[in-house]
Amino acid sequence: MTDQYAPSPLTAEPSMSPALRWDELPEGPVLVLLDQTRLPVEEAELVCTDVPALVQSIRTLAVRGAPLLGIAGAYGVALAATRGYDVDEAAALLAGARPTAVNLGYGVRRALEAHRAAIAGGADQERAAAATLAEAKQLHREDAVASARMAASGLSLLDELLPGGSHRILTHCNTGSLVSGGEGTAFAVALSAHRAGRLRRLWVDETRPLLQGARLTAYEAARNGMAFTLLADNAAGSLFAAGEVDAVLIGADRIAADGSVANKVGSYPLAVQARYHHVPFIVVAPTTTLDLDTPDGASIEVEQRPGQEVTELTAPQAAGAGVEVGGGMPVAPLGTQAYNPAFDVTPPELVTALVTEYGALSPVTRDGIVELCAQARQE
Ligand code: MRU
Repeated sequence: MTDQYAPSPLTAEPSMSPALRWDELPEGPVLVLLDQTRLPVEEAELVCTDVPALVQSIRTLAVRGAPLLGIAGAYGVALAATRGYDVDEAAALLAGARPTAVNLGYGVRRALEAHRAAIAGGADQERAAAATLAEAKQLHREDAVASARMAASGLSLLDELLPGGSHRILTHCNTGSLVSGGEGTAFAVALSAHRAGRLRRLWVDETRPLLQGARLTAYEAARNGMAFTLLADNAAGSLFAAGEVDAVLIGADRIAADGSVANKVGSYPLAVQARYHHVPFIVVAPTTTLDLDTPDGASIEVEQRPGQEVTELTAPQAAGAGVEVGGGMPVAPLGTQAYNPAFDVTPPELVTALVTEYGALSPVTRDGIVELCAQARQE
């Protein structure tokens, strides 16, 4: 390989607005989303004035990634409360928008419980709505704090596992500030390595079919001036074989009680390849992604998405390719059936360590997961 360690050019202006924000407009409160289906071509905002609009944005992946889905869900309940809609109905709609990321239901439940507690305490609708919004903002802040802590712990772990201080990290999907109240999960660790002068290269899996790696992680890496290289997902094997990967860092959408990790489809094959090549496979996720109610990997519901995402270039991919959205350009013969799970599940024995806001857990065991949850409840 020749000049792969040359700095990557900065291709995007450092102007990204936050992935979401609450705003009080003269016509009422709104939740403003950075439309991730339009990135990296344009930074377009979507203004949600009601819960069905937010549910639609979640389904189309305009807003996405586990921690951010939790934050969006909580703000969604607050939106219903402040606009005087049925809060229980809104919560049910939001929680059911996508099935795999446990954070979505968690965020919705927290906001709903804040609303119920306020009503039970004698608050009128206005005060109950204010309490719901305060809870959503609190979750937003907590996620930012968790992100910063994971970044610090993750970097310490990398330094411990990989003495020499020049890390070549492979990542999958998108786990940066586009999915978080802070700088993300796995990406935040790579970013702190970059800031410390210890990131030699971030290998970015393109992440078929919706290209979260190519469209979003490459975009965030460029904005941060990181040395990164994009690869087709199926090129990862030869990269491991060439000895070019020191560690794999990914996020998670749900971690079952036994430590099984659901994350973007393509994560499991990376874990298998990493094990074969003796490369650490590290999962970075806040404790809000742990789910003691799901006993094991087989019990995790994996979202199945439309086959057109595989057989056609649909809106998000087209945006990435600079093609007008709505194209649906076929890449397979008409009528081709496609298998399109959005996530896969990696068993805990393939995970070298789980980094949360409470430090690194290694090996990943049921007892360790239970302890982390207890620690999170105490704080
Ligand atoms: O379908 P997406 O884009 O919502 O999937 C996102 C992922 O799989 C991320 O890796 C995961 O949510 C972790 S983000 C911290």
